[in-house]
Amino acid sequence: MADKPTLPDSMQAMRLMGHGDVDQLVYDTHTPMPVPRTGEVLVQVTATAKNNTDRKAREGLYPTRDKNDKTSFAIGGKNTLTFPRIQGADIVGRVVAVGDNVDSARIGERGLLDFNIYADERRDINLTPDYYGHGADGGFAEYVAVPSDQFHAVDNPALADAELASMGMCSYQTAYHMMTSANIRAGERVLVTGASGGVGTALIQLCRIVGAIPYALSKRDKAEALIELGAEAVLDRTEMDDFTGQLRALTDDQPIDAVMDLVGGEMTRQFIETMIFNMNKRATYPRLSIAGASADNVTEILWTVIYLYQVQIFGVSHGTREEAAQLIAWIRAGDLKPVLHAAFKLSDLHECERYFMNRSSNYLGKIVVVPDAQWDQHGAPFALEQHS
Ligand SMILES: NC(=O)c1ccc[n+]([C@@H]2O[C@H](COP(=O)([O-])OP(=O)(O)OC[C@H]3O[C@@H](n4cnc5c(N)ncnc54)[C@H](OP(=O)(O)O)[C@@H]3O)[C@@H](O)[C@H]2O)c1
Repeated sequence: MADKPTLPDSMQAMRLMGHGDVDQLVYDTHTPMPVPRTGEVLVQVTATAKNNTDRKAREGLYPTRDKNDKTSFAIGGKNTLTFPRIQGADIVGRVVAVGDNVDSARIGERGLLDFNIYADERRDINLTPDYYGHGADGGFAEYVAVPSDQFHAVDNPALADAELASMGMCSYQTAYHMMTSANIRAGERVLVTGASGGVGTALIQLCRIVGAIPYALSKRDKAEALIELGAEAVLDRTEMDDFTGQLRALTDDQPIDAVMDLVGGEMTRQFIETMIFNMNKRATYPRLSIAGASADNVTEILWTVIYLYQVQIFGVSHGTREEAAQLIAWIRAGDLKPVLHAAFKLSDLHECERYFMNRSSNYLGKIVVVPDAQWDQHGAPFALEQHS
């Protein structure tokens, strides 16, 4: 068993004080230490991946038509985002203390959090997708208390902590649940939109793991990296004229079997077209999984198109305990590659948020945030200047 580390009385954390701009994030060097309750472990955070949901929860843009609305997402009928809140869902670190009913042999273990706040013990369904960093405090801090059974040990020496955080469940479990909802099978042609982001890069890899063929929609300058990751071909989202024709040329005139859409807005109509141009060429119903709306929250789609072409639509948020367990097994086996763009210091989270929102063209995958005290070991090797 590892020695019990001495714990401080307070910690550094970035606290979200309310909905609004980045100035709502306040760096507090005297935040009270979390205390692990029954069934929980206390984790010293070494890296936490950033997700788009951090920005959306901060800005308060769930889920309205009006872009000026400031609202929270009332999961299960109840608004669980209260202030101040420490955000950050995809947490990696070391167990430094345990609550009652947790084996103290876990102290010293490195792990990755399954970020969900599950409503119950069911392993095959997750109806209220709340999460650490939203309904409870998350990893933009030096310490966090989380359920022991959701802090999964991953000791692969080849994976740095920041790399492991970049494979967090917010992206990977969502990607996998998009695929399981649409029942993606080996040999199927799958269109992945928003392909260079956290969920998109996960989808490309997961398609290959199950034997499906991912076609990526992104930008030309990211094509080489996406092909290397596993994309069959990359289409440019700035050149959408005759999009179906472009894909038919790549698929030997075969329809796309299913679309994994993270973009939404008006483009989604074009994505549906790639599946239905000739139903006689299909072996299965057209399937659209949607888990994000990076382009726009509102789309005009004719219901006649949906029901006459029998398009099956799946709304996806997070995933199940079973899916998290499968993903952890693939990570431990080295079947998934980290796609880590850069690390930022926790105290630089304002700059990190702005970078995330105005990102440059070479951006692929994830950004992670590292507590200042952990920076030299876990952040500096992945700092932006290392590869800009
Ligand atoms: N439902 C859930 O449980 C869940 C979980 C995670 C994420 N999400 C949502 O899923 C979406 C993707 O998440 P992520 O973490 O992958 O985000 P991300 O890392 O920020 O990537 C989003 C990607 O979408 C593309 N994009 C951005 N603006 C676009 C536009 N106007 N039109 C078309 N493409 C655009 C960009 O890729 P290219 O430049 O390559 O096109 C960008 O890299 C977000 O909306 C996020 O909120 C939902």
